[in-house]
Amino acid sequence: MAKSFWSFGAPGQLMFGRGTVSQLSPLAGRFGWRRALIVTDRNLMEAAVATSVQNALISGGAAVEVFSDGEAEPSIATAEASLACARSFSPDVIVGVGGGSNLDLAKNTAAAFTHQGHPTDYFGFDKVPGPTLPLVCIPTTAGTGSEVSNSMVLTDTGQQVKISGQSEFFRPDWAIVDPELTYSCPRQVAADSGIDALTHAIEAITTVDYDQLEIPAGETCAYDGRYELTAALAERAIRICGEHLEPAVLDKNNYTAKDQMALAATLAGMAFSNSGVALVHAMEYPMGGELHCSHGLGNGLLLPYVMQFNLESRRDTFSKIAGWLGEQADDGQECSAEQAVDAVKRIRKSIGIADRIRDIGGKQEQLHSFTEKAMKIQRLFWLNPRSANYDDIHKIYCTAF
Ligand SMILES: NC(=O)c1ccc[n+]([C@@H]2O[C@H](COP(=O)([O-])OP(=O)(O)OC[C@H]3O[C@@H](n4cnc5c(N)ncnc54)[C@H](O)[C@@H]3O)[C@@H](O)[C@H]2O)c1
Ligand SMILES: [Zn+2]
Repeated sequence: MAKSFWSFGAPGQLMFGRGTVSQLSPLAGRFGWRRALIVTDRNLMEAAVATSVQNALISGGAAVEVFSDGEAEPSIATAEASLACARSFSPDVIVGVGGGSNLDLAKNTAAAFTHQGHPTDYFGFDKVPGPTLPLVCIPTTAGTGSEVSNSMVLTDTGQQVKISGQSEFFRPDWAIVDPELTYSCPRQVAADSGIDALTHAIEAITTVDYDQLEIPAGETCAYDGRYELTAALAERAIRICGEHLEPAVLDKNNYTAKDQMALAATLAGMAFSNSGVALVHAMEYPMGGELHCSHGLGNGLLLPYVMQFNLESRRDTFSKIAGWLGEQADDGQECSAEQAVDAVKRIRKSIGIADRIRDIGGKQEQLHSFTEKAMKIQRLFWLNPRSANYDDIHKIYCTAF
């Protein structure tokens, strides 16, 4: 049955701006945090990004333990190691520092530590039984929006697929978005995570409308479909990506563009984590699991192909997206919907994202296995503006091959 209302989730508090990471110090004092576990990785230790977080917590009066074995697209084994570290330290606050990978690890650790479970207990919708200990998420990429989202994604290396959980209890209590922390991102990370943010915004604003969203009987859905508030957030995120994604990636000294992309990623995170993502994400999860490409690269590669498939169902929105991404109509009229696909292809090319599955190590014979795995993620199909069957998905993969 379709919904007659929408509801909007956000982190408890969102702080944004250069230097905001220093605010951890008064927060630690105000909330009386005594034992802080930082969940991060070696790159962020080396880039001294995690150290700035550590120093702020210490000056706020907390003892700090650091789990620095986070990894990109983290596995269940890494989540077990992070949980073991939490169990031996017994923190009263968990602070994720990193890209979406470390933030998701921190979310998983907070849930499993608080509820004495195993990392795999929280896959699927609404599996966290209640609130977790205080969770702070500090992004160092401008991409995933995990700092504001209700999602947590790990990699099941056995099944070779990305696997996720959604729960309101995964939304951090504090999201501290300090754009300066993204400045040390390598160019490829900035490109991959930046196009992930654009994908989130485009999927959020083209999902089924909330009052048209049909959930099969007996099922529940983590997302509400599109409504005015998320559409406004997604529109702003798309406009920012149109203006700032390319300079943020191509010019390492363009800090204004990088600041704007940090904002776009957070806005897109608030949009998608309420309205939902759809076929691009359903199709990326198997590709990421089998090809070990980054989430952003897989999404960016697939995005124009899925947009092309969805074009007929959302012509008006796609023609607006084209304009927001800087396309011009020849005759002063509105852009065509097709120009949105052209715009994303142009941006994808300019920031160095591959446009063919074969170019990132995929083999033709894998396309059926990708399709079978994607078809299992039906909860994202419900949100797609156009219904898709096995043949449709296989055809999109073949076109993208
Ligand atoms: N929870 C959500 O809502 C959500 C949404 C989208 C994606 N994701 C997940 O997030 C992950 C991808 O996250 P990502 O794109 O942010 O990349 P990432 O976290 O995987 O980071 C990629 C690499 O960049 C390095 N890095 C990150 N920030 C850096 C910095 N400032 N300086 C130097 N190196 C830096 C990391 O150490 C890592 O090696 C995937 O697992 C994806 O499935 C989660
Ligand atoms: Zn994503």
